[in-house]
Amino acid sequence: MGKKLMKRAAAVLLSAALLPSAATAYADAPAMTGDLNGDGSVNISDAVLLGSYLHGRMQFTREQFALSDINSDGSADSLDLAALRFIVAANSGRLPHGTWIASDDVSARYFWFDGEKGTVTDEETGAKKSFRISVDGDCFTFDYGDASEEARVSWLGSKAFNITWSDGRLETMRCYSDGPLNYDDLLTGQWIGSGTVNRVYDIKGVNGSYLDTGTNKGTSFRYEKDGNDLYFHTGRNAGTAHAVITPVDSVHIDLAWDDGTSERLTKHNVEQINGITYVNGILIANKTYDLPSTYNPGAILPEAQAAFNEMKAAAARDGLNLWICSGFRSYSYQRDLYNSYVNRDGKAKADTFSARPGHSEHQTGLAMDINMAGDVFNNTREAKWIAAHCAEYGFILRYPQGKQDITGYKYESWHVRYLGKPLAAEVTDSGLTLEEFLCIDSVYKY
Ligand code: DAL
Ligand code: ZN
Repeated sequence: MGKKLMKRAAAVLLSAALLPSAATAYADAPAMTGDLNGDGSVNISDAVLLGSYLHGRMQFTREQFALSDINSDGSADSLDLAALRFIVAANSGRLPHGTWIASDDVSARYFWFDGEKGTVTDEETGAKKSFRISVDGDCFTFDYGDASEEARVSWLGSKAFNITWSDGRLETMRCYSDGPLNYDDLLTGQWIGSGTVNRVYDIKGVNGSYLDTGTNKGTSFRYEKDGNDLYFHTGRNAGTAHAVITPVDSVHIDLAWDDGTSERLTKHNVEQINGITYVNGILIANKTYDLPSTYNPGAILPEAQAAFNEMKAAAARDGLNLWICSGFRSYSYQRDLYNSYVNRDGKAKADTFSARPGHSEHQTGLAMDINMAGDVFNNTREAKWIAAHCAEYGFILRYPQGKQDITGYKYESWHVRYLGKPLAAEVTDSGLTLEEFLCIDSVYKY
């Protein structure tokens, strides 16, 4: 007998011999038909037990007798033994497929099984290892190239199994998805949570942490997402909290926790690429985020220009003439413009309507002033048409009335920013400024 087989035989004997303690260890698990030793899985040791009982070598408890009635004909007999052997054979030699999460309450690793190969990723360190896997009955062998490890598996139904590693560590593996773990499905990234409590989340894969901004207390967690159900484990003793997710738009989700509290999460992935700030991939220029002086697309970007042309044609059908009175402005152009306002009105007043160099959206090539940049434009038919229709062409009114404290600028009925149609519709429908929509501010730091 090979070493591996001897180990398996020993494991079978052990689990049959240690019936009471095995049953205690799995006391929380619901009784499962066929699981005669109560170890949480239906395996060869249960068939051995049933064989012993049928041959008169042992007594069964009433519960074991009931769990032996595999074919539900009211008795425990040789037909049940045949059925049990069939079930055991079906799980024996079975390999998992897809993404499975191995967890012991506080830490998690996830495994991607694809036939006889796969990967395991440690979420804490991000370390990823490839393996080849082979199966022999209820024994898995993981071959990592430089090392190999054997583990004993007992299935807990088709979507979960317990795995006991060679060092004795027991983990429960649960099927997360049939495909590879898709980070887009997950909540990976930064989120600003506001509602009953205010939190800042930092999530990577299936792990994360949040900072309660009221108490300044940080908490680590691991979560599982099953459709719109979120199960949130904050540690061995804190247990699991459950929330129902309602997606709001591409940037927001609402969480309704079982304790009655609710939270709105705003996706908040802030990236700096070559000195340019993107929030969730959206280029931002405002009082907080500036552009390098060297950023110079030279003109309105083609996509924004094409969107304006489409909008202009639509307005013309309604009898209105729209034109761009100020489009792209370079860093140096904006510097001279801003300085001229400072000379005329003083710095404090100029800052309410003109951006400092590097801070103007006009430098992005995605913003434009339509027809006339002045308050007299506010009540024109053109201004009203722009407010009502610009989102249909991918624009938002960037500095709405009454939002000066948030955008940093007084109302401009003529200044639009191109975001593309889907996002412009979301922002407009939300009734929020771009700053509110993305949970960013617009304040000079100097
Ligand atoms: N008038 C806007 C705020 C700018 O100067 O870019
Ligand atoms: Zn403007």
